[in-house]
Amino acid sequence: MSNYLEILMIIVALLLVIVIWSLSSVLAMMAKKVVEQAKNAKKILMIIVIASSSLFANNIEAQDAVADSTSAAPIINYGGMSSTGFWTMGTVIALELLVVLLLVLFIKGLWKSLHPVAQVEAEKKMSSSWLMTTWKKLDKQFFTKAAPIEQEADIMLDHDYDGIKELDNALPPWWKYGFYITIVVAVFYLLKFEVWKTGQDQLQEYTTEMTEAKAQTDAYLAAMKENVDEKTVVMADAAGITAGKELFAKTCVACHMSNGEGGVGPNLTDDYWIHGGSINDVFKTIKYGYPDKGMQSWSSTYSPVQIQQIASYIKSLRGTNPPNAKAPQGDLYSELAIVDSTQVAKMDSVSTK
Ligand code: HEC
Repeated sequence: MSNYLEILMIIVALLLVIVIWSLSSVLAMMAKKVVEQAKNAKKILMIIVIASSSLFANNIEAQDAVADSTSAAPIINYGGMSSTGFWTMGTVIALELLVVLLLVLFIKGLWKSLHPVAQVEAEKKMSSSWLMTTWKKLDKQFFTKAAPIEQEADIMLDHDYDGIKELDNALPPWWKYGFYITIVVAVFYLLKFEVWKTGQDQLQEYTTEMTEAKAQTDAYLAAMKENVDEKTVVMADAAGITAGKELFAKTCVACHMSNGEGGVGPNLTDDYWIHGGSINDVFKTIKYGYPDKGMQSWSSTYSPVQIQQIASYIKSLRGTNPPNAKAPQGDLYSELAIVDSTQVAKMDSVSTK
């Protein structure tokens, strides 16, 4: 049942069943009425003959149409259905359509016999004249207010331009009242912008909007700043590095010593790193830690921005060669590999010599 065409065909077939069911109940109801109304059996017979003859004529057309639609659009793979499945469903739907057509024709035939021509015409006339009078009333009240054609002679002006004459019709009410409203609005507008000066002109509006927008951007950027993580982190500025230094002195010196030369923890000033030496790596190490190796996670102690500052401070220690430095641990980390690929190419050629 994963095939869309199949599902669609089944749904169409089911819907048609519902249509057939409702049409046939309508037909049944009407047939009952006809039998009640019919004074003699002859009439019913005639109706059936008329209905079925018109049905026959339409029937052939319908069959032609079905044949046309299938031959006109060549279906190569039946939309993923098996050919038997496709044709079975197609036949079912075609048959159902035929039955619907049949029912509609029968209903039409019965309807005609139930509503003789004269009566139908009279009903039509009545509904249309009701519509007309309503429209005329509305038209007169709200739209054109034009004088009826019979009275046009009374309102004809004596203007005559090469045979083109002018009627003195009233202004369309909707237009006229719209115009009055603009006059009222204009008074308030004038007072607000020119007398009381409480409204903002274009320039003032622009400035207000720009100020609001700036406040929003600032708030957004401030929120985003707090959002740094190991993927987005970049080096902090000088002030950030100083702040990082203070934090480092407070909590990290116990194990990494005051100049980052290393103690319990590794030397943070050389080019060798156990967990990677990029700003992202260092940030990640501080954020998550390696608790089983003696380096805890600091994410509950410091905010992302503070971790960024500490990581930046550590990165700034590179190559400071403090006294009593601990021996390198981990792998040689090269910043060049990330910063500049042309330099890496040079390095490679040097190392292969
Ligand atoms: C209790 C001791 C201790 C404290 C306090 C401590 N660290 Fe560590 N740190 C370690 C140890 C041990 C390691 C080595 C972990 C390993 O071998 O995987 C380490 C590793 C690191 C590394 C990774 C070094 C590398 O070579 O990859 C960084 C970066 C680091 N610490 C930063 C900090 C910062 C920043 C602080 C303060 C917020 C801090 N540490 C506080 C013990 C500590």
